[in-house]
Amino acid sequence: MTDRYAVIGNPVDHSLSPRIHTTFAARTREDIEYGRLEAPTDGFVDAARTFFAAGGSGLNVTLPFKLDAWQWVDGHDDAAASSGAVNTIVVDGNATRGCNTDGIGLVRDLLDNLGWDLDGARTLVLGAGGAVQGVIEPLRRAGAADLTIANRTRRKAQALAARFCVASAGLDEVGGGWDVVLNGTAAGLAGSGGLVAPEVVADSRCYDMFYSLDGATPFCSWAADQGASAVSDGLGMLIEQAAEAFLLWRGVRPDTDGIAKVLRSGA
Ligand code: ATR
Repeated sequence: MTDRYAVIGNPVDHSLSPRIHTTFAARTREDIEYGRLEAPTDGFVDAARTFFAAGGSGLNVTLPFKLDAWQWVDGHDDAAASSGAVNTIVVDGNATRGCNTDGIGLVRDLLDNLGWDLDGARTLVLGAGGAVQGVIEPLRRAGAADLTIANRTRRKAQALAARFCVASAGLDEVGGGWDVVLNGTAAGLAGSGGLVAPEVVADSRCYDMFYSLDGATPFCSWAADQGASAVSDGLGMLIEQAAEAFLLWRGVRPDTDGIAKVLRSGA
């Protein structure tokens, strides 16, 4: 029987995950089906329970459910345990295991696809929500230096920074001098690019953990206008985290080459 997977979120209708996983399945000759599951914002547990009770084999979890998923699963892998957020759920016998492939997906995109060396790179992360929680530890492991979390609500940056033993600041307090600046605030979705003072991004490599198919997210466009030395949106991160999820589910890591290009071409 074909194994069933889905991405659960709200909203989820524009998610590229079904296309990405269908491509992986074709490339690896794995027999899977992958759909979208939209749950009410207070309905993650019911929707996830129903999906697995009906024989579902695994879920990807996206906004706004990564923390709900962490609380609901029976156990965690190391990445999920240290981050407090779950983006992939695996079935182990009768139990569910929450995993987090966002961090490794981000680091793979930065290192392997973009060639941005993180070792010793002064790194600033904007935001302190579920999207950011999963990436701090992998960034540190990749050698990021002076790792700092800046958030509009400073208290949330402080709490997260304390957990990972990194520095914190308010968005309006950060200065310049960063090698890499990563946007993980949901402000990217709302269409306002300028979250921080221009000098924060000038001469830095700027990465938006959100994506748009033309690559020009509000944060990327704004950072380029302020003189960022390079910009990238997060489509590569989406594809690489998906490949890691596929590996967890199917035991084979698909080749991700060329997928971003095909998606961006609209083909
Ligand atoms: P998630 O857990 O899915 O990442 P979240 O917890 O709502 O979502 O976090 C969203 C992040 O985007 C937070 O860091 C939030 O800042 P606050 O903690 O101050 O709310 C940030 N964010 C959302 N809208 C923003 C805006 N207009 N300007 C700056 N930061 C914003």
